[in-house]
Amino acid sequence: MIFQPQFNFPKRIFAISPTKYQFRYNFCGGYPYTVVMSSEFTPRVIAICGSLRDASRTRVALHEALAAAEEAGATTTLVDLRDYELPCLKAEEGEASDAKMLRETVEQADSVLLGTPNYHGSYSGALKNALDYCGRDEFEETTVGLLEVAAGDFAGSALMHLRTVSRTLRAWTLPIEVAIPDSHTLVGDTRIKDHDIAERTHRLGRALTRYAGVADYPKKCTQTPVRDTKQETTH
Ligand SMILES: Cc1cc2nc3c(=O)[nH]c(=O)nc-3n(C[C@H](O)[C@H](O)[C@H](O)COP(=O)(O)O)c2cc1C
Repeated sequence: MIFQPQFNFPKRIFAISPTKYQFRYNFCGGYPYTVVMSSEFTPRVIAICGSLRDASRTRVALHEALAAAEEAGATTTLVDLRDYELPCLKAEEGEASDAKMLRETVEQADSVLLGTPNYHGSYSGALKNALDYCGRDEFEETTVGLLEVAAGDFAGSALMHLRTVSRTLRAWTLPIEVAIPDSHTLVGDTRIKDHDIAERTHRLGRALTRYAGVADYPKKCTQTPVRDTKQETTH
């Protein structure tokens, strides 16, 4: 039997906290077993709000998602683009004053929630501009959740567009997404009024915590020990 040790230190996890580690070894040939030991990991979850309105309903929804993420064990930050000096990107013409701060905040996050109002069937220009200041260096191996808020009945098209952008940036988009229609009725000044939408938003928040760092080691691998037999994977 060949013993093949396999060290697997996730770059992102390790960069955030030197106390976090993951150690995996496989016995190859015969029964492959994968055992993973993992210390406590507190994911960093951020949400970027694509609306600059003071009374933004998108921001209200993002706060709810972040509260759920925090309850699930994450530290959270709302990236409020009103606080950032980010003029329309002029590519290759130097840096906007707050571009570096934005990029660092995104780079350090394990999960990023992109929240946007629906503007003419897509996501907002403010969010697009912020994303254009970022790139794959910031988003690669990052878990991304998507949330859209629309005044009309047909929320969802902005999610499609953001999914494409996120994948282009090599992020891992979560399968659960939130599309909130009829925002003026269903979202209040401080909370989502509709019970089912609120519950779905909380689920998205929890998923951002649960699947943080998914690119490095899916959550199921952190249960110790995991028996990973060929029989189980081939049937
Ligand atoms: C420029 C602009 C375009 C919009 N286009 C749409 C649209 O196509 N469909 C829709 O349902 N709502 C549309 N809306 C309404 C917003 O999606 C809605 O008011 C949303 O709640 C705004 O988000 P906020 O409260 O976070 O600012 C538009 C609003 C603006 C300002």
